[in-house]
Amino acid sequence: MVIRMEPVVFNFPHSRLYDFYTKVFFLKIYEQFARWIPVGNPKGKVLDVGAAAGYLGAALAEKYPQLNIYSTDLSQDMVRLNRKVIRRNKLADRVIAQCEDAYNLSFADSTFDLVINSFTFHHWDNPKRMFAELYRVLKPGGEMFIIDGKQGFNYEEMKEFCRTAGFGPLGRLLARIMGKFVWIDFVSTDYAHSALASSPFENATCEETGVFMFLRGSKAVPALA
Ligand SMILES: C[S@@+](CC[C@H](N)C(=O)[O-])C[C@H]1O[C@@H](n2cnc3c(N)ncnc32)[C@H](O)[C@@H]1O
Repeated sequence: MVIRMEPVVFNFPHSRLYDFYTKVFFLKIYEQFARWIPVGNPKGKVLDVGAAAGYLGAALAEKYPQLNIYSTDLSQDMVRLNRKVIRRNKLADRVIAQCEDAYNLSFADSTFDLVINSFTFHHWDNPKRMFAELYRVLKPGGEMFIIDGKQGFNYEEMKEFCRTAGFGPLGRLLARIMGKFVWIDFVSTDYAHSALASSPFENATCEETGVFMFLRGSKAVPALA
């Protein structure tokens, strides 16, 4: 059984601590995620919800030079940090950081080609409501791609990931320590499957890949009359 926490909003000073260890140890993760994310339309519009300081959006924007990205978080301080990352990477013409509650987005229906998110699914207290909101803002034919940690990942899987993602020595050390000793309240794939089954997404799947799990789904294209 998994005891699940309320969604955590990373306000100051928690935001700074999270950003410190992400920046120092784990930036390579986002380059790997950017390689995994299926970008159907490289000139399209992407939404990242719960983006923290926006390293995933920045990595994706570097890889796809014509993509437009909205990098959003409920924490004002995370949005502040995200804007610094955008300025530092000279991405202000294509990446926008803004404060948004992922349960109640300010965007119109059918705005985005792709909705992404990393490491937040296990915090969602109401996945059914969250999926419905993400579905609403996707264009017909648009895709959702969510990455989260896999419940019970082990040391060997973490070591293999560090090798393929090209982690530096500090990142490798910390990730291996985490793989061996740290328990994070990630949810099971069974839980993810049942959450997806209650969502409006078509072709919804949850697959395990090493230390991660991927949740995917697409928005139906209305049939022609
Ligand atoms: C574990 S962090 C993950 C951040 C980032 N995606 C990453 O890969 O590092 C979860 C983030 O979700 C944000 N968050 C929590 N509840 C939220 C909500 N309802 N809407 C938007 N963001 C939320 C938190 O403020 C935090 O920055």
